[in-house]
Amino acid sequence: MTWSKESISVQEQQVQLSLMNSGRMPKHVAVIMDGNGRWAEERGKPRFEGHREGMERVRSTVKTCSKLGVSYLTLYAFSIENWKRPVPEVRFLMSLLESYLVREVDELDANNVRICAIGKINALPKAVQKILQSAMERTKKNDGLTLTLALSYGSRWDIQRAVQVMAMDVRRGKLSPEDLTEQTLASYLQTSGMPDPDLIIRTSGEMRLSNFLLWEAAYAELYVTETLWPEFTEQELYKGLASYVLRERRFGKTSAQVQPESQAQSRSTLERILDALT
Ligand code: FPP
Repeated sequence: MTWSKESISVQEQQVQLSLMNSGRMPKHVAVIMDGNGRWAEERGKPRFEGHREGMERVRSTVKTCSKLGVSYLTLYAFSIENWKRPVPEVRFLMSLLESYLVREVDELDANNVRICAIGKINALPKAVQKILQSAMERTKKNDGLTLTLALSYGSRWDIQRAVQVMAMDVRRGKLSPEDLTEQTLASYLQTSGMPDPDLIIRTSGEMRLSNFLLWEAAYAELYVTETLWPEFTEQELYKGLASYVLRERRFGKTSAQVQPESQAQSRSTLERILDALT
C-alpha cells in the first residue's frame, strides 16, 4: 500500500500541511520508546502485550514521519542494557523484531524507506541478523525516509569502540593525532553519515537519555511526554513535532541573530493547531 494514497481526515490533512509548510520540520527525529511494560501492567496484562502494541506505534510513527517528509527516523528498539531483562522478555522482543521486519519490509520498500541499524548487531540472534541484513540490502537504494533501528545499542559502547578504532588507525599511520577533530570522531561512530538528531522524543515521562545518541544529541531539542509508547498515536507525534517547530534553536547565538521575521505567521497557525491537539 502506497501511504501517500491513503485517505485521512480533513483536520489531519491540515495539521500535516501546516507542519510541512512551516519550513522548520526536523530532518532527523529520534525516539526513546518507553512505557510498554507499564502500559501492559496498568491493564493487568503481561508485559509482552505492551511490546506488541508498541510495535503498532512503530508502524504508525514510521508511516507518518515518511508522509511528512522527515529524512531520518531513529528508533531505540533495544538497548545494550536490555540484555539484562528476563530471558523470556528478551526472546519475545527478538521475535517481535523479526516479525516486524518480515511483515513490513514489502510495505517499507514500496514506500521508499531505507532500513538501517546501529548497535552491536553481532550480539543479536543469528536469525534476526539474517533478516535484518536482507531488509537492509533490499531497501539500500531507497532515498525516502531512512529508518534506523538502534539494536543492542549503547552510546558509550559506540564512542568507546570509535575511539579504539581511531587509536588503531593512528598506530597504523592512517591518522595522525592532529587529525582527531570532532568531525573525525563523528565519522567513526555508527551514526556517521547521518545528520545529528534535531528532535529526540521520549515517551512515558522519564527525564533521561538512557545511553542513547549521547554524542549526537549535543544540540537536539528534547520532547518528553507522559504518554506511554503504546499510546503514542499520530496525534501525539503531531504534538511533539509542533512543539519542536515552535522552538527557537539558537546554537549558542542570540535570539536576534536567529529569528527571521517571516516566522511570525507560521507560528500563529501552528500555535492554533497545537491548541486544537491538546
Ligand atoms: C521500553 O519499554 C521499550 C523497549 C525496551 C522495547 C521497544 C520495543 C518496541 C516498541 C516494539 C518492537 C520494536 C520494533 C522496532 C519492531 P519498557 O518495557 O522499558 O517499559 P516500562 O519502562 O514501562 O517497563
